[in-house]
Amino acid sequence: MFATKDISKSFGKLVALSNVSFEVAEKEIFGIAGPNGAGKSTLFNVITGIYPPTAGQIFFKGKEITNHKPDQICRLGIARTFQIPTAFHTLSVYDNLRVGAIFGAQRPESADEVIELLGLNEVRDRPARNLDLYTTKLVMLGAALATDCTLLMLDEPMAGLSMVEINKFLEIVRQINQEKGITIIIIEHLLDILISLTKRMLILSDGQVLYLGDSARVTEDRRVVEVYLGGKGGASRAHR
Ligand SMILES: Nc1ncnc2c1ncn2[C@@H]1O[C@H](COP(=O)(O)OP(=O)(O)O)[C@@H](O)[C@H]1O
Ligand SMILES: [Mg+2]
Repeated sequence: MFATKDISKSFGKLVALSNVSFEVAEKEIFGIAGPNGAGKSTLFNVITGIYPPTAGQIFFKGKEITNHKPDQICRLGIARTFQIPTAFHTLSVYDNLRVGAIFGAQRPESADEVIELLGLNEVRDRPARNLDLYTTKLVMLGAALATDCTLLMLDEPMAGLSMVEINKFLEIVRQINQEKGITIIIIEHLLDILISLTKRMLILSDGQVLYLGDSARVTEDRRVVEVYLGGKGGASRAHR
C-alpha cells in the first residue's frame, strides 16, 4: 500500500536520512523506532511533503507521490500527527476536528463521527487551549482521522503520557486499525511498546536502516542491541 525507495534527505552538510527503503501492507500497523536524532520525524516530514527528499521515491497505492504538496498528499488519504502536540488553541475541540474534515475529506460530518469514536463528547465545545496533554493528543489524532485518511502516521504519540494513558491510547490505535481498517505507521521510542503493537518494524540509526523485519525478533539482532539498547545509559533512558 505504501513504500519508500532509497529516500535520502540532507540539511546542508547534515545527512538526516540515507537510502531508507521500506514497505507497508494494507491494514498493517508498522513501527518505526530509533534513538533521538535518528531521522524518524524527518522521514515523516519527507513522506508528507513538508520537505522534498534529496533523493529517492515515495509510493502510495501504486502511484508515485514524491514531491507532492502536503495538501495533495492529505487528500490522497495520508494524515499525520506531530511529535509536539499541536491544535488551534482558540478553536473548540469540535472545530479543530472540522478543520481536518474540511481540509482532507471535505466531508464535515466526519468530525461528528470522530467525536463519537474517540469519546470526545464531554469536551466537544471547550477551547483546545484548556485541555490536558492526553486530551490534546486525542484532538490532534481526531483532526487527522477526520480527514478520512486510509494511512495514519503517528509521531511518538505516547511521549509524556502516564502508563494508564499509554494503555488507553494503545487500545484506541488498535481500534482504529481493526474497526476502521486504517493502515498505521507509528514512531515510538520504546521498543517494548512497538513489539506488542506491531508485527514489523524499521529501526533507524544516524539516518540509516539499522533493522527492518519482524518485531518479535528485533531484540535478537546484535546491531540493534548494540546501538539502540546498549551503550551509555541506553537510548530509552535518554528519552524525556
Ligand atoms: N529542518 C531542519 N533543519 C536542519 N536540520 C534538521 C531539520 N530537521 C531535522 N534536522 C536534523 O536532522 C536530524 C534528525 O532529526 P529528527 O528527524 O527530528 O530525528 P528523530 O525524530 O529521530 O529524533 C537531527 O540531527 C536534526 O537536528
Ligand atoms: Mg522525532
